[in-house]
This record gives sequence, C-alpha cells and structure tokens, in this order.
Amino acid sequence: MNILLLVSAFNGLSQRAWCMLRARGHEVTVELAPAYDSPDALTAMIHAAAPDLILCPFLKHRVPAQVWQKWPTVIIHPGPVGDRGPSSLDYAIMDRERQWGVTALSAVEEMDAGPVWASRIFPMPDEPVAKAELYNGPVADAALSCIAEVVDKAADPQYQPMSQETMSRPVASASTRPQLRRADRVFEWTRSAAEIVRRVHAADSAPGVRSEIEGTTVQVYDAAVGEPRTHSATPGTIVGRSGDAIAVAAGDADVWIGQVKRPLDAHGNGIKLPAGYVFGDDVIPELEPPAELRETVYDRDGDVGILTLRAYNGAMSTRACHRMKTALDEALADDTRVLVVRGTERFFSNGIHLNVIAAAPDPALEAWENINAINALCKALVSCTDKLTIAGFTANAGAGGVMFGLSCDVVVVRDGVVLNPYYDMGLYGSELHTYTLPRRVGHATAARLLTEKLPVDATEAAAIGLADAVGPREPESFASWLTGMAQSYADPHWHGQALDAKLKVLSGTHPPAYYEAAELSEMAKDFFDDRSGFAAARSGFVHKMAPAETPPRLARHRWNFANG
Ligand code: COA
Repeated sequence: MNILLLVSAFNGLSQRAWCMLRARGHEVTVELAPAYDSPDALTAMIHAAAPDLILCPFLKHRVPAQVWQKWPTVIIHPGPVGDRGPSSLDYAIMDRERQWGVTALSAVEEMDAGPVWASRIFPMPDEPVAKAELYNGPVADAALSCIAEVVDKAADPQYQPMSQETMSRPVASASTRPQLRRADRVFEWTRSAAEIVRRVHAADSAPGVRSEIEGTTVQVYDAAVGEPRTHSATPGTIVGRSGDAIAVAAGDADVWIGQVKRPLDAHGNGIKLPAGYVFGDDVIPELEPPAELRETVYDRDGDVGILTLRAYNGAMSTRACHRMKTALDEALADDTRVLVVRGTERFFSNGIHLNVIAAAPDPALEAWENINAINALCKALVSCTDKLTIAGFTANAGAGGVMFGLSCDVVVVRDGVVLNPYYDMGLYGSELHTYTLPRRVGHATAARLLTEKLPVDATEAAAIGLADAVGPREPESFASWLTGMAQSYADPHWHGQALDAKLKVLSGTHPPAYYEAAELSEMAKDFFDDRSGFAAARSGFVHKMAPAETPPRLARHRWNFANG
C-alpha cells in the first residue's frame, strides 16, 4: 500500500510508525504540513503523491476538506473515544485520570469527530508522569497498535469506520474540551508541591507553565517533589541546587525544577535551558535532588556496575558532561567486570546541548567545549580495557547521542526505541563515530546511515548490527533483562573471552585519539567557520522554525516521479 504520513513534525511517534510500516512492506512517504502555506498547496502535493491512505500520527494542522473527501485520511488522536480537542493529555494528567486511550478516526470537518477505525485504552502510570513521557510511552505504544489495525482495515474495500455516536465511551470523562490556556495552568508557589508538579507535568515538554522565581518570569519544566518543608524560606525562592536543577520553596515541600525558559525578548531569550544556566550558582547550597531528577545514579550488583545517566531531552551540556565524566570515572574505577551505561525510561542522549550552545555568548566556543566534553565520555568508554561495557538504549537517541552509546562494547536497545544514527545540523560529527560506527556495521553501512539520514528502529538496528540485542518494551522488564544480560557477561569464562576479543580489536586500530583528532579538525571548521550552516540549522531547531520544505529523503513519492 502507498501510505502518506502527513505530520506537523517527523517526531518520535511518526518515526516509529514510518519504521513499522516500511518493515511491513508498505511504501511510505512523508510530508510536513507546516511546509505548506495554504490548503491548496497541501492538496496539490497530495494529488501528486496519490497515496492509498493518509495517516496522521502527529498532526496539529487542519486537513483540507478536498483531501479527506477524496482520500481515506486517518488521524491518531491521543484520547479515548469521545474525547475531542487539542489538550487531551494535558487534561488527563491534570484530572488524574486512571485510564486513558488513543483513537484512530477519519478526518472530518469537525476536529476529532470522525468515525472510528481503531481505539485502545491503557492504564495511566501510577507515578506522576510528564506529558512527553506519557506521549512517548503508553500513548505511542497504543498509537502504533491502532496504526497497524487501520492499515489492515484500509486494505479491505468493504470496510467502513464506525460512527462515534454508536460507540460506548470506555472513559466516562471523555468529552469535547477547549485548548488549555495559560490561565488554566498557573499556580502560586504557596500551593502544595504535588499540585505544582502535576501542573508542570501536564505542560511538559510544551508549553511549560508561566511562573515567577525570585522576581524572574520564566516558563518552568521538568519538575519533581522534593523534601518536606523544614525551612522558613518564602515560597518562590530558591533554596538549593543540584547540578543545574534548582529547588524552589513551595507550600508544604520544595519543588525541584530542571528546566526554565525566559520569555522571548530582544536579547534572544525564549530558549529552554537547564535552570542553573539561568539562575546562577553562587550562594545556593548543594542538596540531594529527588530520584526523578538525579543526573547520575550508580548501582552495583555483584560484578556488574550500572550507571544511569539522565539528560532532559537527551541534551548533554558541557557542564552535564563534566559531571557525568566524574561519575563515569568512578564507575570505571570500581572493581566490577562489567559496566552498564544506560539512560532513563524517557531519555538516552541526543548529543551536545543545542539550546545551551544557542544561548551562549559565544556559541561556537560553547559548541567546541561541549563536543570535547562529550568526547571525553566516549574516549573513557572506548579506552576501557579491564571491563566490558554495555550501552542500554532505554529511550530514543539521535546524532552524537547514538554514537555515544556505540562507544560501549555491547549495545542493546529497548523495543520501540528509535535511533537516528547520523548528523543533520551542519555538523561533520565527532563522538569517535568514525571509529565506532564502522566497527559495528562495516564501512558501507556506516556511510549509508550517515548519508541517508533516516530513523532506524530497534529491530532494524539489531538486523544491521548497530545493536547486539533488543530487550523488552516494558521499562522494568527491560531493566531486569539488561541486568541479567550484564550478569551473563560477568561470568568469568565469557568475560575473559569477550575481553580478549576486545583487546585484539583495539590493538589492531589507531588509538581513539587518532579518530578524535581527525573528527575535531572537521568540527572546528563547522563551529568556527560555520562552513556547513550549523548556526542557521541550530537556530531553526531551537526556535522551532517551520521547515521551508519536507526533506527529499522523507518525501519519497518525489523520488518515484524523478525516477520516472
Ligand atoms: N539539544 C537540545 N535540545 C534537544 C536536542 C539537543 N541535542 N535534541 C533534542 N532536543 C529537544 C527538542 O528541542 C525537543 O524539545 P522540547 O520538546 O522540549 O521543545 C525535545 O528535545 C524532543 O525533541 P524532538 O525533536 O521532538 O524529539 P524526537 O524524538 O521527535 O526527534 C531527533 C529526535 C534526534 C531526530 C531530534 O531531537 C534531533 O534532531 N535532535 C538534534 C540532534 C543533534 O543534532 N544533536 C547535535 C549534534 S550531536
């Protein structure tokens, strides 16, 4: 079947759908709706693509009537049957729903009112959850399942989707609700920490909640409940920090805030940044942050060490890399046989921190320091000769974030994770990828991945050797599977063999410094001479500018025309 993915952005969910549909043998092409400035232009493009089915896994734009009247057009809505509106997940979190859902419905004139092709219900997580985490976890899983059902049904010419009026509503509160406004989200710092955190979660990763901290107006993100109140600080003042997260006094406990964004102004603010970059670090005591926001956690289980790294959005700033390097050095110095380096359920790594770079007084210099700092992590892993290292890709990763994981000897991926193993920001790339990527997949596949610039799902990653194994989707099952696998590598027999093999490979190549030096000489030109448009690409990325066009590598229907 020829399937067109019409999306507002080729985001993680759209990429998963793209990988799954291609793996099932469909022709899949993509168009980014924001690249079209009129319904007529969008309609003309779809005429040219002539798809059998239009799927919209992530679409904030309206589908023109000329389109849905002519082609079967199915919207994936992140809410159960009967739920309508653009703030579904925000309401589900704010209202503490016990279960929620995803519905695949035909595009019609009224938003989310079309007949239903498929729907799923899932239990909401017991723990408080941020919107992006909900979206990339249970929502994405349910959406993928719905998409598979839709495509099967679309192959049946007799199939008719079911009117919503004739269907029962499995979630009683599902209804038509307006977009949440800024005023619906605000809170006073005198409120309970749990309530504040819930409000921030419902707006994370976008749009955040407007608030004031010590007289500075910011959008806040990445929140967690801290210690019960034992101080007399005025609510809304900063009482401590850990790394670049800050603790702010609230009604009954501290609220930890990881990220803030100043309003857009003439000085180029309006970029989401780790809170410590905005509020400074002079006089604030270091405190222990809540588990959700801890940047590095090291656990030991027998001969296996497990280092969990947490970088919000996978973005690893210079400062974060330095802190992580300290933790990595300690983990490498422990007398274990195996070290697992993993991310959290939500984040692995997306490489250097483009927002911090964009906001720096000298972005080229900050980028240079950032790449050197992340390279230090990669070098430490590649050069480790007394233990086996295992990368656990717990969540999506892109660019240097994928390459960082490839610095380990063994690479495993959680099912459902999507990797983007290439650089697409006007950068040659570093993170020792010229050594580690061909080592894993061979030179031809490495060159293909770097130039094709397409997402790779867990199954394909294992098929091409980018990963050694795929573990279970459910996060806790993945964690115990990962530990079990690490334990088997720690077995003295296996460990000895694997270490010998590793030393043989290392001794047959140039030292890591050789690859790093060659990569950095390219990156110096990218950063300091801006030879490939890094400044403009970075600015477009951090300011979320609408794309001028759908990249040709995604709009594959154009290739077919070009090839006759
Ligand atoms: N630096 C700063 N922020 C980053 C980032 C980075 N390297 N990579 C991702 N993010 C942020 C996005 O801006 C977005 O922010 P928001 O939701 O808080 O506004 C969030 O992470 C999620 O990103 P999104 O693009 O929606 O995720 P995705 O899963 O849909 O797409 C990628 C994944 C990897 C394709 C995409 O994030 C990307 O291209 N990242 C840049 C990678 C890169 O070039 N790194 C630098 C070179 S090493």
